[in-house]
Amino acid sequence: AAKLPGAPDPSIPVISRAGVIGGGLMGAGIAAVLANAGIAVTIVDIDDAALSAARERIARLYAGSVSRGILSSDDAGAARARIGFATDYAALADIDLAIEAAPEIMDLKRRIFAALDAVAPPHAILATNTSSLDIDAIAAATSRPGQVIGLHFFSPANIMKLVEVIRGRASAPQALATGMKLVQRLGKVGVSVGNYDGFLANRTLQFYTGQAEFLMEQGASPEQIDRVAEAFGMPMGPVAMRDMAGLDVAALVRKVRALSLPPEERLSPLIEKMVEAGRLGQKSGAGFYRYDNGKRLPDP
Ligand code: NAI
Repeated sequence: AAKLPGAPDPSIPVISRAGVIGGGLMGAGIAAVLANAGIAVTIVDIDDAALSAARERIARLYAGSVSRGILSSDDAGAARARIGFATDYAALADIDLAIEAAPEIMDLKRRIFAALDAVAPPHAILATNTSSLDIDAIAAATSRPGQVIGLHFFSPANIMKLVEVIRGRASAPQALATGMKLVQRLGKVGVSVGNYDGFLANRTLQFYTGQAEFLMEQGASPEQIDRVAEAFGMPMGPVAMRDMAGLDVAALVRKVRALSLPPEERLSPLIEKMVEAGRLGQKSGAGFYRYDNGKRLPDP
């Protein structure tokens, strides 16, 4: 029988259990988004210290959602209860989907995907939240490259609507369709993107962040730049956005991307200088701005 337009396609599997690898800024947010949609989530991180940091991040995130009226405290409690924590990949033996949000280092991601491939059931989709790494090289670390896709969320993952669904050379149409359907169920907007350098959203944003860095080198203040960008309608200026994402994360992404940038897209060395000075953004209490517990401090 002909399928009605918009009717659910029974051939696309429904995700009911997921693993999130790395419970940092992005992993914690992604885990919460999945749990809010009724999915049972296990966060895997390297040790108990990393897991307790992830637990705290999740607790803060739900407290924020309740205080801003996004979730009732009952719904927040129910969602939080769906999130479990583990240091052992064996906890992922019955997942339908894994989303990897570990540091932006190819060797590390390949090792994680090999470990996921060894424990996850054959039907499971293995997705990466990478910002810049080659999906095909990550997929090649598994025996199921057809099940490997990119699901690129934006920070803060529980707020930002966009998710790039990234198509590797081997990604199976069914895996991509499952990814798109999941994104829709999460209440987000999925955009199907090829495995291009920098994908699509960051390629667009880099002109704001890049020019902001050049302007600061030339003496503009972060506030001046962000005020202008916000007056133009961006919800957050490019300098504050960098601090939120983490300058260490930006530096890793730039290291990957610098290899393929044409000369006219020259990068300012500012980010690397900030990282050398230990100013990583909100996470270290100072980046371009200064923070106390994630709250921006007024300029001295
Ligand atoms: P983060 O540094 O906040 O978190 C990384 C987490 O991975 C930490 O909890 C760390 O303990 C854990 N980890 C380290 N080694 C691990 C291993 N071997 N196995 C499992 N977990 C491990 O980093 P963040 O910002 O969450 O970034 C993670 C990924 O998401 C990167 O690939 C990044 O490019 C991407 N991304 C970051 C965005 C941002 O705004 N920060 C936006 C979109 C994507």
